[in-house]
Amino acid sequence: MEKSKLKYSNAKILYVDDEIDNLVGFQVHVEGDFSILTSEFPTKALEMVETDPDIAVMIVDQVTPKMTGLELAEKAKKISPYLTCIMLTGNATKSLAIESVRKGLFWEFLEKPVDFSSHEMKQMLFSAIQEHYLDKVKNGYREGTIQLLAKLIDDKDGHTHRHSFRVQEWSIKIGKKYNLSDHEMVQLREGALLHDIGKISIPDDILKKPGRLTALERKIIMTHPGRGGDLLESIPQLAELASMARDHHERPDGKGYPRGLKADEIPLLSSIVAMADFYEALSSKRPYKEPWEVKEIVKEVARVRGTQFREDVVDTLLEVLVDEKLISREDLEQSVKEAQAA
Ligand SMILES: [Fe+2]
Ligand SMILES: [Fe+2]
Repeated sequence: MEKSKLKYSNAKILYVDDEIDNLVGFQVHVEGDFSILTSEFPTKALEMVETDPDIAVMIVDQVTPKMTGLELAEKAKKISPYLTCIMLTGNATKSLAIESVRKGLFWEFLEKPVDFSSHEMKQMLFSAIQEHYLDKVKNGYREGTIQLLAKLIDDKDGHTHRHSFRVQEWSIKIGKKYNLSDHEMVQLREGALLHDIGKISIPDDILKKPGRLTALERKIIMTHPGRGGDLLESIPQLAELASMARDHHERPDGKGYPRGLKADEIPLLSSIVAMADFYEALSSKRPYKEPWEVKEIVKEVARVRGTQFREDVVDTLLEVLVDEKLISREDLEQSVKEAQAA
């Protein structure tokens, strides 16, 4: 095991079990080969995962106070997506095994009692650590490539400093209020970053033109969602993000572009990106405008609620603005009333 220790010298294994004897036994037999952390309490374990990025593997008992091992793994993976989770249980029912596999939370499923001192156990732990790093590297490449593309998009469109990244931030804030699956959240995170990728194909002299655009130039700029959709669709690994590029200028009243889709024809994730895109544009400084006051933004989004943007998505953005303490609830309600009266 000496080699493995050297190769992954920072990696830590966290074992969560309410039976102290198990924790001690594990520590005694495995400590020499790996860095071990233990906890009797799931909430404490979550804090550890949150504060210690070196935790690579978490072993959980299915029956722990206040939280099942399944719930614990689900929460921990939200904090640390590449954490390799191992279920160690004394009551391995068929339904538990099926649920574990379906949720894709566990890399290994072990039945108590296990011999912590065995060679197989140590080999398994080493493989679990390896799995964590492989997962991290694999996803890191994808994440890095998408971020690089987003930087290129933002550089290309000289007016909009960090626009793609800010649209991503606001899409995530809005998306978190919906009951999205982990996969949909990842799609939203990636799609928001690439929503304007079609701008890569727009000539610089149009995109960076300081003055007013001619009707033809405006038409050319309006091709960017379609171009972006086509670009992403042509790459199988990115195709599922295409609608966030293609549909982010669509409107529920059918007056959007490029396809003039209506209400339910526009996917939810694209509607969220559209809202974040609009908010970002109003709240940022541009060469031709100052950032809008939050009250003015509220009035504007209330005005176009249901026509330019989905009603529920507008309401969710307004909730986020209050959560973020950018406006008080009283001022928000007042601004909405003023917009409705106008
Ligand atoms: Fe756009
Ligand atoms: Fe945009």
